[in-house]
Amino acid sequence: MAVRIDPSILASDFANLESELGRIATADLAHVDVMDNHFVPNLTLGLPVVEALQRVTPVPLDLHLMIDAPERWAPQYAELGVYSVTFHAEAVGADSDPVSVARSLRARGARAGLALKPGTSAEPYLELLPEFDMVLVMTVEPGFGGQSFLESTMPKLTQLSDAVKRSGLDVWLQVDGGINDNTIGIAAAAGADTFVAGSSVFGAENAAAQIERLRLLAGE
Ligand code: DX5
Ligand code: ZN
Repeated sequence: MAVRIDPSILASDFANLESELGRIATADLAHVDVMDNHFVPNLTLGLPVVEALQRVTPVPLDLHLMIDAPERWAPQYAELGVYSVTFHAEAVGADSDPVSVARSLRARGARAGLALKPGTSAEPYLELLPEFDMVLVMTVEPGFGGQSFLESTMPKLTQLSDAVKRSGLDVWLQVDGGINDNTIGIAAAAGADTFVAGSSVFGAENAAAQIERLRLLAGE
C-alpha cells in the first residue's frame, strides 16, 4: 500500500515558512490549513500567502480549506497551481453542491478533496466518490493543531475504504488531527493512506527522521 506523509505547516514557524518547508523536503506533500474564522474559530492565511508558498515549496501543496463558501474561493486556490484542494462538505453554500466545486477544481488542474468533520456521516457522499481524488476524514474537530486523535472516527474511515475498494477507484483516504507515533498505525489499519501530521513532525528535532518513522509505522 502506498503511504503518503503530509506534514501540516500549521505547526511550523510562520516567521520562516520557506525554511520550514525545507525541513520537510522528504515528505510527499505539504499540508496547508486555510481558516477563515467563520467555518472554524481560528484564522490562518489566505490566497497571497499560498501564492508565495507555491513559489518556494520543494513538495506539492495540499490545501485544506476550512472556510465558508468554498464554491467561491476554492477555484481561486486551484488557479495558483497547487497540487490538491480539499474543502469541507459542511461548508458548501445552499446555492452550490460538492460535485460542482470538485469539478471546478479538476477543471483547473487540481486534485479535488472532500473533507468530513468528525460528526459528519460518509453515507450521503459514497455515491460521489468518482468526482473526488481524495476524502479527508477529520480525526479532530477542525480549527487547531495539537488536539487528541478521535478513534471514534475509524468506522467511518473503514466504511469509505470499503466503498473505494468496491468501486475500484483510486481515491486517497486522508486523516488529519492527532496523528503521531501512537495513532498512525490505528488510522492505517482502518484504511487511511495519506497522513497529515503537524506537531508530530514540526515538533521533532529532526523532521526528516520523524517523517521516515511515521512512514514505517504506517506500514510502508
Ligand atoms: C486542524 C488542522 C490540522 C492540524 C493538525 O484543524 O486541519 O491539519 O494542523 O495538527 P496536529 O497534527 O498537531 O493534530
Ligand atoms: Zn488540516
